[in-house]
Amino acid sequence: MTDESGFQLKQGGPEVYELCWVRAQLAQSAEELVEAAGVARGDRVLDVGCGTGVVARAAATRSGAAANVTGTDVSAGMLEAAARFAAEAGLAEIAWLECDAASMPLPDDTFDVTLCQQGLQFMPDKPGAMAEMARVLKPGGRLALSVWKTQSPIGAAFATVLDRHFGAGTTAPWEMVYSLGNRDHLHDLADGAALRDAHVVFDVKFARYPDPEAFITGAIAGSPIAGTMAELPEAEHDRLIKEIVAELADCQDDGGLAVPAQCLTMTARK
Ligand SMILES: C[S@@+](CC[C@H](N)C(=O)[O-])C[C@H]1O[C@@H](n2cnc3c(N)ncnc32)[C@H](O)[C@@H]1O
Repeated sequence: MTDESGFQLKQGGPEVYELCWVRAQLAQSAEELVEAAGVARGDRVLDVGCGTGVVARAAATRSGAAANVTGTDVSAGMLEAAARFAAEAGLAEIAWLECDAASMPLPDDTFDVTLCQQGLQFMPDKPGAMAEMARVLKPGGRLALSVWKTQSPIGAAFATVLDRHFGAGTTAPWEMVYSLGNRDHLHDLADGAALRDAHVVFDVKFARYPDPEAFITGAIAGSPIAGTMAELPEAEHDRLIKEIVAELADCQDDGGLAVPAQCLTMTARK
């Protein structure tokens, strides 16, 4: 299956992540995260767990100085895509750095703002990552990060169909997506990193997918079960995609899928 630009959705990878998740949802929440952090003109900004770089791009646009923005990620593939998307957006001066968030080769007291959108829950050493995000901030510098609060309807539909087909517990590892959706836990992490004025806000992000089958195909191709799905006969693969779309009947309107997702955003200061 291809998207309207002819992209091979079944191939997965950073481009499909960007197409399926970022352009439909995370681009809007990136703007909101940059706003929550109060990114201002000329700020030096770090985007941790930057993925394909949507937050870095939003911060660079708002700060007016792409050269002051750095994105970091453990995935070289994500960073390559991030550099390409940034160049396409006229933001080629953003710097990209491959490293674990818990050990960033960056000097102390460097950035005005550290951002992390939907990344911390995936990091094995969360206190270490928070300590690093705090370390590289200038005194008085601001942190803003977001995590999903609960399982989204999309995750629930995946779990229902894929656990039924492949066996109970198949999608259990995906619970990591919303594993940090707890306000107390976020406050503890901020306290542990000696950050001040931590403040957690709950809101609902909304994503629209005009072509539900194309979206679910791409989302599956970017998921941990991509390999298993790719080995299925095409008819069986496509039947499972249709079953997932049918599970999402409550989230469909005349424009396609319309999906809410609960989010926690924490701001704090060094
Ligand atoms: C759901 S993506 C979010 C990407 C991006 N922030 C966005 O809003 O689109 C999570 C990202 O965290 C990165 N990641 C996971 N563990 C990491 C770690 N220990 N250090 C740095 N990045 C990590 C992944 O490679 C992935 O790009």
